[in-house]
Amino acid sequence: MTRKRVAILISGRGSNMTALIEAARAADYPAEIALVVSNRPDAPGLARAREAGIATSVVDHTTYGEDREAFDRALDAELAAHRIELVCLAGFMRRLTPSFVTRWSGRMLNIHPALLPEFKGLHTHRRALEAGVKRHGATVHFVVPEIDAGPIVAQDSIAIREDDTEESLAERVLEIEHRIYPDALRALAEGRAGARRTAGGSATGAN
Ligand code: GRF
Repeated sequence: MTRKRVAILISGRGSNMTALIEAARAADYPAEIALVVSNRPDAPGLARAREAGIATSVVDHTTYGEDREAFDRALDAELAAHRIELVCLAGFMRRLTPSFVTRWSGRMLNIHPALLPEFKGLHTHRRALEAGVKRHGATVHFVVPEIDAGPIVAQDSIAIREDDTEESLAERVLEIEHRIYPDALRALAEGRAGARRTAGGSATGAN
C-alpha cells in the first residue's frame, strides 16, 4: 500500500492533529502524516507534533503583512518541499487565497465544529445554543474558496441537553471531531470521499 503524504495545518493546540497522527499509526491506514505546518510560532500543537516524531514547520503570517498571496506561496513551497499530496486544516485560523484553494481543490479538507450548512464561521457552539437547535455536531468538508461551504465528506451530531453550556457542548463536539476526521481522511486517501451535498446546502454528485 502506498500511503498518501499528508500535511496538517494548525494554528493552536492541535487536538484534531493529534487524532489524525494517532489514526495514521495503524498499519492499514492509507495516509501518513508527513508534515505539520503552523502559521503561529507559539502554537502548542507544534510541540505535540515534534513529540510524535513528525516534521514541523512554521510559516509565520506576520512576516507577510497584508500579502496573502506571498504567505500562500511560502506555504505551497513548504508543501512541495515535503512532497505533500493531501492537506488537512485542523484549527487553522487563516483564510487562504482562492488561487491556493483552487490549486488544492479535491485534495484539501477542513473540520468545522457545526452541522454545516448551519453555523458557518466562528462561535458555533454559542450560536447553536442561542438558536435553540436540538442537535449540533461537526463536519469535515472539502475546502473551496467560500468559507465553510465545500462538499461534505463526513458529519455526525449529538442531541443538545437542556443544561449544556458553550463549554460542555464544545467538549462533546470535539469527541465527534476526533472520530470523524480520521475517517474522512481515510476515505479521501482511498479515493472514496464523494460528497453527499455541498455545505452550502445544494445537491451535488461526487466531488
Ligand atoms: C476545532 O474545534 C476545529 O473544529 C475548529 O477549531 C478547533 C481546533 O481545535 N476549526 P484543535 O486545535 O484541533 O484542538
